[in-house]
Amino acid sequence: LRQRQPIIAIDGPAGAGKSTVTKGVAQRLGLLYLDTGAMYRALTWQVLEAGINLEDEAAIAELTAHSQVQFINSPEDNNQRVLINGEDITQAIRTPRVTAQVSLVSQVRAVRQQLVAQQQRWGRKGGIVAEGRDIGTRVFPDAELKIFLTASVQERARRRLQDLQEQGIPGGNLEELELQIAERDRLDSTRKTSPLRKSPDAIEIVTDGLTIETVIEQIVQLYQKSVVAG
Ligand code: DC
Repeated sequence: LRQRQPIIAIDGPAGAGKSTVTKGVAQRLGLLYLDTGAMYRALTWQVLEAGINLEDEAAIAELTAHSQVQFINSPEDNNQRVLINGEDITQAIRTPRVTAQVSLVSQVRAVRQQLVAQQQRWGRKGGIVAEGRDIGTRVFPDAELKIFLTASVQERARRRLQDLQEQGIPGGNLEELELQIAERDRLDSTRKTSPLRKSPDAIEIVTDGLTIETVIEQIVQLYQKSVVAG
């Protein structure tokens, strides 16, 4: 007898298509969607807003302890709103300013401890698809299905540029984005606390040249085979 509903963990580097795929899988399977990257972004935004030095881990930890990240499902735009201490920062967390600093803030042990604990509380009953970097390895190591979604740096830079353009955020340049993505990969996979790595039991999907729909369909089928039937 299962104690909770199933959990799908979707990990992988920036720009592999995780967010769109995870949302699509959640919608297809009627599961809740949890974007853990948005939580690290929200705290980073707040650290920048407060003018805290990014090397001052004690101050970052202190701010984290007094911060509450919330998600609100907004039916109008079919997207989640992200709030920190009641303030809607959905747009602000996607700006290059936040993106450039989020790897640093997410390395702080106290930040990870607090956010992971919150993610685990939200996931207690299961019935969710969570995306991030350490979902299958750390947050939900007992997830029924673990996916490691990846793509080449070039492909991910192209997609990021398209995202930025669609959101009307200026300043994107392909070469610069490739450098940023490679650097973020390096920081994310070499940090001491919960580095980005594929869980041995995760299924890897390389998304170069695949449409979003194809990837969603693959994951839905894996879920139906291994979780529903198995
Ligand atoms: O997926 P994203 O680009 O929104 O993630 C933003 C940053 O947050 C990314 O650089 C790594 C960090 N992150 C993390 O350390 N652990 C997670 N579970 C999710 C994101």
